[in-house]
Amino acid sequence: MTKKMRVAIAGLGTVGAETFRVISERKDFILSRTGVDIEIVAVSAKHKDLDRGIDISKVSWVDDARKLSSLEDVDVVIELIGGSEGVAKDVVEKSISAGKSVVTANKALIAHHGMAISRGIKENNVMFGYEAAVAGGIPIIKTIREGLAGNRISRIYGILNGTCNYILTVMRETGRSFDDVLGEAQNLGYAEADPAFDIEGIDAAHKLSILSSIAFQIPINFPSVHVEGIEFISPIDIEFASELGYRIKLLGIAEKSGSGIQQRVRPCLVDVTSPIAQVEGVFNAVAAEAEGLGVSLSYGRGAGAGPTTSAVVSDLIDLAAGRVTPVFGVNEEDLVNEPAWGVENLSGSYFLRLLVVDRPGVLADLTAIFRDEGVSVEALLQRGRNPEELVPVVLTTHETDEAAIHRSIRKFKVLESVAEDPRILPIESFKE
Ligand code: HSE
Repeated sequence: MTKKMRVAIAGLGTVGAETFRVISERKDFILSRTGVDIEIVAVSAKHKDLDRGIDISKVSWVDDARKLSSLEDVDVVIELIGGSEGVAKDVVEKSISAGKSVVTANKALIAHHGMAISRGIKENNVMFGYEAAVAGGIPIIKTIREGLAGNRISRIYGILNGTCNYILTVMRETGRSFDDVLGEAQNLGYAEADPAFDIEGIDAAHKLSILSSIAFQIPINFPSVHVEGIEFISPIDIEFASELGYRIKLLGIAEKSGSGIQQRVRPCLVDVTSPIAQVEGVFNAVAAEAEGLGVSLSYGRGAGAGPTTSAVVSDLIDLAAGRVTPVFGVNEEDLVNEPAWGVENLSGSYFLRLLVVDRPGVLADLTAIFRDEGVSVEALLQRGRNPEELVPVVLTTHETDEAAIHRSIRKFKVLESVAEDPRILPIESFKE
């Protein structure tokens, strides 16, 4: 007799509806790959009668998604509600306690509660798939956890938020403002329910903390991620960066050194000729570096219904085929806590953009501060036409301590000729 896997879907937004459609339409295809007949038996969402382009009339409807966990005829619950607390968390926890396997795209939930979830998975002897939580159509969990399992990974980095990458790309291509392009990204269905999670870097930080755990075999440590977003990036920053041969990208970077783990998400300049600079629009890319391996770069669409559903369905297929891996690559008790260190201990090159009054001596004041802090200027650009007007000035530095940059900025801000908070963007470079 054909083995059956009966699934319930919690949440029928763009990803939930697409998951319903793909599972229904590819039933025979999945059966031929796994020998398992996947059947949707129940769904739950906020509103029953929305037109989602799918026929839910033949499956059970449950008003409260939490109740999916107590349905006898459900083997797997697919949680596509989102959010680190509330209904999504209840659905996942209750399903696991009830002995059901779970597939989710919920990076916020894993970033905040991943360790407790992983304990529940082990105690209840069920399975947990979360490929869809990071970088949508790129199978990056599997790549790092399984494909690169034999490497001591020293650094992972990447573009982990499609919305931000889309906004930065369109701003550069069109010169349009941040707010204008954000609305467009929302209309295209890339952004989170609360787009602040995207543009403030939080969504990318959730994903980075998950990747760090499997790359470095550490417990997830989301609070230690330094997070900055792209909301302050202006067309002028992008224009100056381009002029100097760089693109601005929101990067998540996690690195392991003798002193522990450093995790950061912030807008950075990358050389225009580097592979990561070529990742444009809604695309994501994640790179892993390790001795011997060099660099391994994965690329694909990081947001949207189709790419995310691809990951959800591949997890279901793994479950159907019985392919089991510890949630974070090794058993939870073998994850080792490492000290977390902050960006103030980093060193590198930096891009600073200031708005200053165009008058004699202003540049001398700025460079004197840099001289006193031991910061060496690499390039300087100024756009000015009329004396006493505000003009943007951009400085890039040679390698220096980030702490020296911050001390310099504090001194710049006190100068009467500096009109607004200087913008600091690190210039990152990577192995190729
Ligand atoms: N809002 C996310 C992004 C969707 O823009 O990348 C996938 O997590």
